[in-house]
Amino acid sequence: MTTLAILTAAGSGTRLGRDLPKALVDLAGFPLVLHAARRLAASGVVDSLVVTCPPGLAVEVGELVAHDPQVGLPVRAVEGGSTRQASVAAGLRLAAADVDVVLVHDAARPLAPPGLVRRVVAAVRQGHAAVVPGLPVVDTVKRVVPASPDAVTRAEGPLAERVVETPDRGLLRAVQTPQGFDRAVRVRAPEAGARRADAEHLAATDDAGLVEALGLPVHVVAGDDAAMKITTERDLLVAGLLAEEES
Ligand code: CTP
Ligand code: MG
Repeated sequence: MTTLAILTAAGSGTRLGRDLPKALVDLAGFPLVLHAARRLAASGVVDSLVVTCPPGLAVEVGELVAHDPQVGLPVRAVEGGSTRQASVAAGLRLAAADVDVVLVHDAARPLAPPGLVRRVVAAVRQGHAAVVPGLPVVDTVKRVVPASPDAVTRAEGPLAERVVETPDRGLLRAVQTPQGFDRAVRVRAPEAGARRADAEHLAATDDAGLVEALGLPVHVVAGDDAAMKITTERDLLVAGLLAEEES
């Protein structure tokens, strides 16, 4: 029984807008990818890592992670693809034959704590083939459609979308990574992505969405605020405070 974590770090970080890939941006003295790798390793339930790296940086990022004494796991690095889904697929291709559980985790969630990693892996090992961490949603969420094209259009003023549904907030979860999978199920999941056009938007950010598209059950375990995703400078500031609190 072996658990492989695919750490996705190949994105460019357009929304952060720095002159280096987001995974290499500094947080409290270390690059995001290293924070994420250290916490995966500290969980004690991950046996090896595959890091998906920005174009041309596989050697550099691979060595950074592999040589970190706090990681201490076998590390392989691979160049990612043009989408997150393509990067995960590249990582999956490096999974050794004995891997039976696959975690997919974003370097963009550098402070996801070891306890969260253990919770996800434990749920997979208990027989749930696809597991995502999720948090209650604090905002009321509306489903909208674009305003009808023949609606009276004004020269000024905000473009209003039309609300078509207000889902029961108590039944919504905002999902995070790491997401955990029975290896055989995750390997089959891209088939669903290829078959169903509507799986494409799920694939961009959420591996479990592909498993859902296969018609297989996905389960949610409790997420953790510390697993927040870094998208903007503001997120980086908040994560900096969390990292300080932690140390
Ligand atoms: N990712 C990846 N390969 C891609 C795109 C994204 O491995 N082709 C990774 C990112 O490195 C990140 C995670 O997927 O850890 C989530 O993606 P996101 O937060 O969107 O990061 P970026 O794509 O780098 O940011 P942006 O969308 O602002 O460019
Ligand atoms: Mg992106």
